Amino acid sequence: MKPKDSIAVLDFGGQYVHLIATKIRALGVHAEIRDPDDPADTFRDYRGLVLSGSPALSAFDADSDWSRDVLELGVPVLGFCFGHQEIAKAGGGRVEHTKREYGAAKLKIVNDSPLFAGLGPEEQVWMSHGDTVTSIGDGFTEIGMSVGGVDEISAHRNAAIACEDRRWYGLQFHPEVDDTLCGPRIFENFVREICDIRTEWKVGDQVEERAAAVRKEVGDRNVLLLASGGVDSSVAALLFLKAIGPDRLRLLHIDNGLMRKDESAGVKRNLESLGLGPCLNVVDASAEFLAALEGLTEPEAKRKAIGDTFIAVFEREAKKLDLSNALLGQGTIYPDTIETGGTKRADVIKTHHNRVPLVQQMIAEGRVVEPLADLYKVEVRELGKALGLDPASIDRHPFPGPGLGIRVAAASRPEDFDESRLRLEIAHALEGTGLTGLPLPVKSVGVKADLRSYEHPVLLVGENPGHDRLAAIATSLAKNVQGINRCLFELSDTRPERAELVPATVTRERLDLLRELDAIVMQALERHDLMKIVWQCPTVLVPLKLDGRGRELVVVRPVHSERAMTARPAWIGEKCAREITSALMAFDEVGAVAIDVTTKPPATIEWE
Ligand code: XMP
Repeated sequence: MKPKDSIAVLDFGGQYVHLIATKIRALGVHAEIRDPDDPADTFRDYRGLVLSGSPALSAFDADSDWSRDVLELGVPVLGFCFGHQEIAKAGGGRVEHTKREYGAAKLKIVNDSPLFAGLGPEEQVWMSHGDTVTSIGDGFTEIGMSVGGVDEISAHRNAAIACEDRRWYGLQFHPEVDDTLCGPRIFENFVREICDIRTEWKVGDQVEERAAAVRKEVGDRNVLLLASGGVDSSVAALLFLKAIGPDRLRLLHIDNGLMRKDESAGVKRNLESLGLGPCLNVVDASAEFLAALEGLTEPEAKRKAIGDTFIAVFEREAKKLDLSNALLGQGTIYPDTIETGGTKRADVIKTHHNRVPLVQQMIAEGRVVEPLADLYKVEVRELGKALGLDPASIDRHPFPGPGLGIRVAAASRPEDFDESRLRLEIAHALEGTGLTGLPLPVKSVGVKADLRSYEHPVLLVGENPGHDRLAAIATSLAKNVQGINRCLFELSDTRPERAELVPATVTRERLDLLRELDAIVMQALERHDLMKIVWQCPTVLVPLKLDGRGRELVVVRPVHSERAMTARPAWIGEKCAREITSALMAFDEVGAVAIDVTTKPPATIEWE
């Protein structure tokens, strides 16, 4: 369902591609991510093309072959970074390896262009490149240069170029990144003035149109939809209800025993209140999930066990419902359907549920219907609002598919590590902070240079120097001490000096304990009006005895984030932290309580 006034974002890989499309859509203009290898002709009907940057490709790369003919379609083109260099080369310019420019830089505007209408003479932009456009071809003008990058003195010419006749524009910087403050204005100039798109694309206005499209796609068949209770599947359920009515829609909610306290009952109540009660089947499969998790300690093995069990239960229940003439409905959203260069774990893993072989096979047979597959999360929320979904469901914190299964950390033996070296290096790095650091004999997951790292967390102990200071200490510790990717600050004031692993796996008992603790944390956030400020807040059980006390270290992980690709630790205030800590410490199993103060990267949002 491609609107006619649409922009194609050519995906050369990298995590910024979705940001480009998101920022254009935020202006009310439809944008779609496309593969640059597709035949040039399939790009003819777009009103504008944006060439993304690329994490791996250099303009010199032999692999950087793509359908360059798209540039000749007469459609306006805007390129960033790698895309900028491709435009320069296609226009007869030169690109050379130069000194790398990374981070904030100043763009000095040196010639007028409609692309820069409304910008000041100098603007802050964000750069990340090692190749530079060193000369431009006939018909091109340099419209901006960058000054004062990392080394303050160097100036990079041709940071912005334009060939107004052909409506080709290239920017060495990344306007899609928030640090480029004038980015939204540049996008607006491009889509509204240069591509001349006047229509407003608003998902909230598309309820009838989308329902009609679903009705057409489904035809006279039935739909079976998995309803987790999350915003995506709830919005999809409401859209199906509107499109085909309750008689031909079946919702299946699988209680995997890894949900939050009373969550399945809440999901059931909520779906009933939305008029979806008659369609709903709830299956308690918690025993099967627990059995599949028995004895597992590796995070990815746990995820796989949960994913496989999910599919097995789903297949069995689907058979029981006799859906021979049914389609599988899924609430898959846009980022999950587009494979892009940045290998984000969340995407890979979500793909686990939505793109397992059985589902792939059903897709190939034309038996899967995904009515939200072209939408980002904000747009799903907007559609949900228009369909009457209640605000509490719309603003729910994201919850991972494997649920609490990945928040009950498991380990069978202490990790081998050079504790004395780590202690020494940590003590050295913490000098002058008033804090001591205890490296923990477990590993947790993190991201370093786009790869996953399993490294040791450090428990910081001492007087709280303030949240910003803690976050800064965490950043410098992870940077300066090899083998550290996560920092926790101890809230319970027990000031432990020793941590000892208590071998543990995922058991019903630990899950029940975590459910209670998690509910306490969530209620405290609600009481203190923090649910909207905090983007997500996992509570994690780590099987550690601290100075001989308890058998679990509880880690609370409140974060700020936009799209989960990066995150900042959120502070929940002294009072809320105290209330949470004293409530959690009342449990015999709990030996200490800590708050995670690490950014992502180097840590991830989840513990494992
Ligand atoms: P990380 O821990 O990678 O998490 O920073 C980023 C976002 O993804 C969620 N997450 C998952 N979601 N299956 C999911 O459906 C998973 O296995 C999974 N692991 C992490 C996480 O909650 C956060 O919102």
